[in-house]
Order: sequence, then C-alpha cells, then structure tokens
Amino acid sequence: MNAIAFLGNSTMRPSKCLLRAFTRLSPSRDTAFQSHHSRCINQNINNQDPYRITKLRNVVQFCTNRPSSVTTQVASEARNLSASRICTKDPTLDKIIAKNGLNVKPLTVERLEEDEKDEEVVNGDVRNIDKDGLENVRRKEIEEEAWRLLRQSVVTYCDSPVGTMAANDPTDTAPLNYDQVFVRDFVPSALAFLMKGEGEIVRNFLLYTLQLQSWEKTVDCYSPGQGLMPASFKVRTSPLEEDKFEEVLDPDFGESAIGRVAPVDSGLWWIILLRAYGKITGDYSLQERVDVQTGIKMIANLCLADGFDMFPTLLVTDGSCMIDRRMGIHGHPLEIQALFYSALRSSREMITINDSSKNLVRTINNRLSAISFHIRENYWVDKGKINEIYRYKTEEYSTDATNKFNIYPDQVSPWLMDWIPESHRCGFLVGNLQPAHMDFRFFTLGNLWSIISSLGTPRQNQAILNLIEEKWDDLIGHMPLKICFPALESSEWHIITGSDPKNTPWSYHNGGSWPTLLWQFTLACMKMGRPELAEKAVTLAEKRLQADRWPEYYDTRYGKFIGKKSRLYQTWTIAGFLTAKQLLQNPEMASSLFWEEDLELLETCVCVLTKSGRKSCSRAAAKSQILI
Ligand code: GLC
Repeated sequence: MNAIAFLGNSTMRPSKCLLRAFTRLSPSRDTAFQSHHSRCINQNINNQDPYRITKLRNVVQFCTNRPSSVTTQVASEARNLSASRICTKDPTLDKIIAKNGLNVKPLTVERLEEDEKDEEVVNGDVRNIDKDGLENVRRKEIEEEAWRLLRQSVVTYCDSPVGTMAANDPTDTAPLNYDQVFVRDFVPSALAFLMKGEGEIVRNFLLYTLQLQSWEKTVDCYSPGQGLMPASFKVRTSPLEEDKFEEVLDPDFGESAIGRVAPVDSGLWWIILLRAYGKITGDYSLQERVDVQTGIKMIANLCLADGFDMFPTLLVTDGSCMIDRRMGIHGHPLEIQALFYSALRSSREMITINDSSKNLVRTINNRLSAISFHIRENYWVDKGKINEIYRYKTEEYSTDATNKFNIYPDQVSPWLMDWIPESHRCGFLVGNLQPAHMDFRFFTLGNLWSIISSLGTPRQNQAILNLIEEKWDDLIGHMPLKICFPALESSEWHIITGSDPKNTPWSYHNGGSWPTLLWQFTLACMKMGRPELAEKAVTLAEKRLQADRWPEYYDTRYGKFIGKKSRLYQTWTIAGFLTAKQLLQNPEMASSLFWEEDLELLETCVCVLTKSGRKSCSRAAAKSQILI
C-alpha cells in the first residue's frame, strides 16, 4: 500500500515528511484484517493540524518485517498516521539534542536577576526567617531552581514540547531508560505546568501518547490488548542526508522494560490527566474530540473486558504500576484499583453520551459501584477489623460466609498487631486481596488515591490521614513518603522479591521513601481539609531535596539516606515538590482535581446488593449501608 496514496485527498502535506507507517485504528466490529508492522514511527505530518483525524476507507497492510498474527478491528475512522519529520540541520538540532538529554548543559545553579532583587529586599528587611528556620528567600531560590530543572528536562519533538524525561543528571553515564518520557512520571510535571498556565506541553503530551496507544507492539511474539498506553516513549533523532535528520517517537510498552512489566497504570494516568487538563485550562474541546473520545473508550474497554476474574477489581501481574518490579503485588493491588476507580470516574465525566456510548457508560457506573463496595468492605482494616480477622473461622462453604476469602488468621503478622493504633479513628486499606491472601502492607499511593477519588468512605478517608499522622515517623520520617510499610525482610524478601538486590529492605520499592508522593499526599490532605499536614511534609522535603540534588528515593527505616541506586535530578521529585507547593497555594485548583462522594453510585451499589429491585433503593439506604 502506498502511504501517500492512502492519504487520499486529505489536506495533509507530506512533502516535508518521510512517511513510514500507518496505524491507530479504532475498534469496531465492522471489518477485521491482519496488520503487520516492522518498526513503526509515530508522528504528525501536518504542520497546521498535527493531530488531524483521517478517514480510513480500506484495510491496509504495511511495515511487513515482523508479522503478527493479531487481527485488528478497523473502524471507519482511524486515528493516526505516522511519519517521521525531516528537519534541516541547524542550531535547533543542537537544541533538540540538548533537550533530549544527550548533551545537556551542566546543571549549575545560576542566580537569576530576580533572586538578587529579592536578596536586596531581604537584606533591607533584616533576615526574614520563618518558623521553620528556613529563610523565605532560600525557599524562593529552591523553587526557582526546581522550575529551572523542570524546564531543562523538557523533551521536544520537532520543536514542540511533548513531555519531561524521567531524570536529567548530566553526570549519569548509564541513564538506562531514565532519559525517556514516562507516562506516570509526567503527571506531576503536567500539573505543575498546568497550574502555571502552560497547557501546551500537556496538550501535546496527551495527543502524542494517544497516537502511540494501541500499537501492535509485540512482547516476545505476543501483542498486548488494544488500548494499552506505553510506559514511556523516547524521541530518537537519526541522521538522514548530510544536513537532515528525522525525529521518531518510539514507545515502550514493556517490551524493553526490565522484567517486561505491563504498564497497566499508564492508560489510567492518561485519562486522569486528560480530565485535569480540562478542569485546569477550561479547554474541554480536547476531551470532546472524536479521536480522544475513542482513546478513552479503548482504555476503558480494555480494563472492563471480561475475564475469569470473580472480583470487580482489576486483575494484573506483578509490577504493573509505579512499583514496576517484582514486589508481590500481582492480583488486585490497591494502587491499580484506586487509579482504575479514578480513571473510571474521570471517563464517566468525559465520555460524550450517545447511542454508541451509553452501554459503556452504564458498564462504567456499575463497575464503579461494585469496586467501591468491594474495597470499602473488604480492604478496610482498623484495630477492630484486625481483631475480627484474628478470630476468623476458616473453610466456610456458603454464600453468606463471614470470612469470604478464607483468610487464615495466622496471616495477621505480629508487626501489624503492634503497629495498628488503638483508636478506631485510624485505619487503612490493605495492599491486596485474593483468595486466602490478604497483603496487610500499607501502600501509600493506593491509600492516597482512595482518598482523592472517594473510593473510601469519608470516614475511612479521614482515618487514613489520621493513621499517617499517628505513624508520622514510619510513613514520613526524614523524607516524605514511604512507598510501602513495612519492608519485606529475610526470607520474605528472598521469596517475594526473588532476592532483588535493588529492593533490599528499606530501599527503593521495598520500603524506600519517594518524594514524588508528596503532591498526592498534599492533594489528599487538602481534600480532607487538612492542609497543615501537607505543609509539614513539604517543609521537611524542602530542607533536603535541593541539597541532596533531587533524588528519586531515599533509603533506611526513616528515610535518612539518599537511595543506594537512586537517580539524581529525578524529574518527578522536582515536579512533585512544585506541584505540592502550587496546590497549597491554589486550593481552588486543588479542589478541581479530586472527587467528592457520589451518592448515585452508592445507590446503584445498594440496589445490586439487595437484589430486590430499585424500589427498596434510596440514597438514605445507600448512606446507611455503605457509609461506615
Ligand atoms: C522506576 C520507578 C517507576 C518510574 C521509573 C522512571 O522504574 O519504579 O515508577 O516510572 O523509574 O522514573
């Protein structure tokens, strides 16, 4: 198939572009065909409208080096065409290379004129020292450095900003994939830019990653489901003729990732970010676009597809989220469930309702109700519930068993009995739940997103924050926040991590402290009306992050040391810090990013539970049954 001919009479102008491949097919039951790709390169080919949608009239075959047996469904509309752009070698080339981290400027902390002005004022004002002992002017300097570093991490694609690289340490000679734009890592960068009124990079990111979605990428001869978003992408620059080069967006769906982990959370983050973009910029036209609507639906359909699972939660393999290594989080980990719930709530708000979408919206509503009921009932623990589990009868065979998942009381480990506060005002959602298996570890991201999305009840959400406050030394310590608590040690570490030398006890994913969690903690605190807790954590981070060169994570029980293998100048550390500060300064923007309790969802849930028809369902019943 001739690519140019395939464009038909579209107004696109391929003269400056080298067309390589076409894909981006939206799902439909109309036509099926076999498609074959070699290496596909994604990019816009239209200078005026980089994201235009082109009608696909025929079935096409292209890029035939690496055949795949996957049958792809094609609809009348295809979301993309790809090509790589040829650019003329000029100073911009150096700029792009520099921005892409191959030849970055040394990261010196330059003094800005503005800093100097501030210092004069401060000098005149006799050392304006605040209660934390950190001078206000120092604070400003730290923030300015953070902004400078964040901007230096921006990756451009044919001169447009499209994301931020994961880490940008010029002294790092082996960046592995940290020079890529990770979807999850970009979220705090995106929010920082959005709250500063800079929406372009976020819009570009959303649209380019949308074009990367659902490529027929193979992982050891198997293709992931249509709708999967990549974990990360890289802009590759390769020389063509003497003064020309091309830029190529190259996604990674896990086929290069360490351990070949599936980036289940990427699509969920993409949807959450899309909603945030609309809320903060007020530009809802982006989410209304047909291609964007199709993208949302593809992610939702992929997550909602039937399988063998018995629970409403999403079944995933180990390492399918921020913890992207073996850590015993296969099954139904809380982090994925909380992001899944948030993404479904976002989708429900954004999907345009019409004949073709109404079934999906109904499915989403039912699933939301079922997830929240399941999590609130079965993942929640406080002292009382732990005591109940400790006294559970086992081997109950009946539909109304108390110990539905056949949890053996011996699973209640001694650390948990010691650790759980006496007060019923403290509690948390456990890390994972499957038959005969309850993972009692506290996973921070999942608990925070349960608060943010109202996956937990209002009381549970408040109790999670109470627990964090009560267990401040364990969960915040010297550096907010622990990714999970406690660490796996000794034989558990051997068996569960597979003796992973990076995930040794109290390091990295195994009980390390990750400053990027700060913005999510801030959002959760603001939602629950407790910004002072977040402020305390931000102040703590502020004292060390810059001096420590913005590490990816910290090690030891209380987060005292910079992580053994931690990257420096980690972008989501920098962006997470900035976002946390901006959220605190803009409570209104913060409130547009979280969700309140939705009584309609509770009502559906009670209806499903009582199985006695809608008559017996009411909001009052919902409130009394679910709002524990
Ligand atoms: C590590 C983290 C992952 C992050 C990536 C890039 O692999 O576990 O969550 O996205 O680094 O920063």
